[in-house]
Amino acid sequence: MIYGASGNLGSKIVTEALSRGHEVIGVSRNADSMTVDHENFSATSGDVTDADSMRAIIAGADVVIISVNGNGEGNRPENAIVNRAAQTFIAAAERLGDDAPRVIQMGGGFTLYRDGMLMVETLDLAPGHPRHGIYYGHMAAISHYQSSDVAWTVISPPPGAALQPGERTGVFRIGEDEVIVGDNGEASISQEDLAVLFINEVEDPQSIGKRITIGY
Ligand SMILES: NC(=O)c1ccc[n+]([C@@H]2O[C@H](COP(=O)([O-])OP(=O)(O)OC[C@H]3O[C@@H](n4cnc5c(N)ncnc54)[C@H](OP(=O)(O)O)[C@@H]3O)[C@@H](O)[C@H]2O)c1
Repeated sequence: MIYGASGNLGSKIVTEALSRGHEVIGVSRNADSMTVDHENFSATSGDVTDADSMRAIIAGADVVIISVNGNGEGNRPENAIVNRAAQTFIAAAERLGDDAPRVIQMGGGFTLYRDGMLMVETLDLAPGHPRHGIYYGHMAAISHYQSSDVAWTVISPPPGAALQPGERTGVFRIGEDEVIVGDNGEASISQEDLAVLFINEVEDPQSIGKRITIGY
């Protein structure tokens, strides 16, 4: 099950999951926006900020992937859709108890550290700036998972231009809080390889209860 399946990154994860034989239910607020034509794909409408709807939608799923985006009121971090998604998942999972699925959520690259510095703090974004809301919303999402009992993983790709459409190589490095920098001094990963890591974690979870990152 993939919340944000119609999105830029979510659609790459759908492609990867289907290519590996998984049955995928795509979720966004508008099911008609998901036009994947595959026998193992179906689409449903759902709001990632609505716990009742999420509980009904995720019941019976093995793994829920959340790759959503959006600013909330005032661009405040607490209203960012990524933060509300984490809170909603935790509430829905608590109500499902032992039957709750695992969750793997897309993180934000500026929540990583480089040379010991939290990258979002190097940007000097003022509160109320849309990116301030999203990036600190991603930080808040991790905090909510850390203080919950759910089986969670957050995957933060390297920030900004380091994440681009490209090749699916299946060969990359995985790290935790520090951005992975290549031999050329730059961080990079293709969107296709990011999708590979998501489905690797679905098939063979190595990082439950952790935020991880990826890079060449
Ligand atoms: N380098 C990086 O670190 C990096 C780079 C890019 C993106 N990201 C992160 O990756 C995530 C996805 O980004 P993206 O570029 O793929 O986003 P996107 O293309 O804007 O797609 C967002 C998806 O979320 C869905 N969505 C939005 N609000 C929703 C809601 N309330 N309920 C259900 N679904 C909702 C949208 O569908 P509907 O509108 O139909 O609901 C859409 O499918 C974001 O969290 C972003 O911050 C990180």
